[in-house]
Amino acid sequence: MRITPLANNFGAEIEGIDLSDPSQEIKDAVYQAFLDHQVLVIRDQKLTPLQQVAFTEIFGELEWQENAIYAHPEHDKVLILSNELRPDGSAVGVVDAGDFWHSDSSHHEIPVKITILQSIRNPKTGGDTEFCDMYRIYDALPDDLKLKISGLHGVHHVSKALNPRVTISPSRPGAKDFYETQAKNRKEVLQPLVRTHEETGRQALYASPRFTLRIAELDDAEGQPILDQLFTYVTDRKRPFHYRHKYRDGDLVMWDNRCTLHRATGGYGLPDIRRMHRTTVIGERSFFRPAA
Ligand code: SIN
Repeated sequence: MRITPLANNFGAEIEGIDLSDPSQEIKDAVYQAFLDHQVLVIRDQKLTPLQQVAFTEIFGELEWQENAIYAHPEHDKVLILSNELRPDGSAVGVVDAGDFWHSDSSHHEIPVKITILQSIRNPKTGGDTEFCDMYRIYDALPDDLKLKISGLHGVHHVSKALNPRVTISPSRPGAKDFYETQAKNRKEVLQPLVRTHEETGRQALYASPRFTLRIAELDDAEGQPILDQLFTYVTDRKRPFHYRHKYRDGDLVMWDNRCTLHRATGGYGLPDIRRMHRTTVIGERSFFRPAA
């Protein structure tokens, strides 16, 4: 097993392992690399949906899939992300998944800790996933800003219809109605703006343009400029805390949602097809523990 750090010393590539039947030693080494590097690109895998579920279960309980109609026919905990259409014109998978910076399921009281994305079919152009390192963004904040957000909470909601920082993709059929229904039926969830990682003990900024609507303890006149300032670190054009992954056939990418954000960059279209199989592991309730 070879581990090579990626761009900006964020993330790592792993070669020389087969995840279809990993030994305990490999499982332990992968998890340690995951904690150390936050994003892992594991090359040359070809997992069936059942094998992907078995690999994901090593790390905890799988999350239920909200978009059940896009679940894989061989396993309902594997979500298909794709722009492919069936002969009747219906979508095979979620077409606009992750198009704005986010941490998966931060709109759930108990968010996802790990996401695993296996690349099944790659378009000739586009289809990259970008990641940013929320430990390093927290570390880079000015001290007065760190102090100001310490102990505050972001209000997270799943509906794009409630969030002026995002737009609803026109390529997803019925998306406007879907998000308007979510706006009525789903709850707001509070998450600490600074999250202490349960296992490493490090502090990470835990807020995203996609899911964080406002700061719970501040009115918008004060809170929105703070969120805008925090998000400039995520969207910084120079990408100093970032890694952009260009998929090769056989790539399996896994990331730690407690200390990273990610986004799908798009840039492809039919007849070019992108297809990913996605599984997620439920984490722990988030918390903030001030540094001693
Ligand atoms: C996601 O946000 O979970 C998917 C990202 C991607 O498809 O690149």
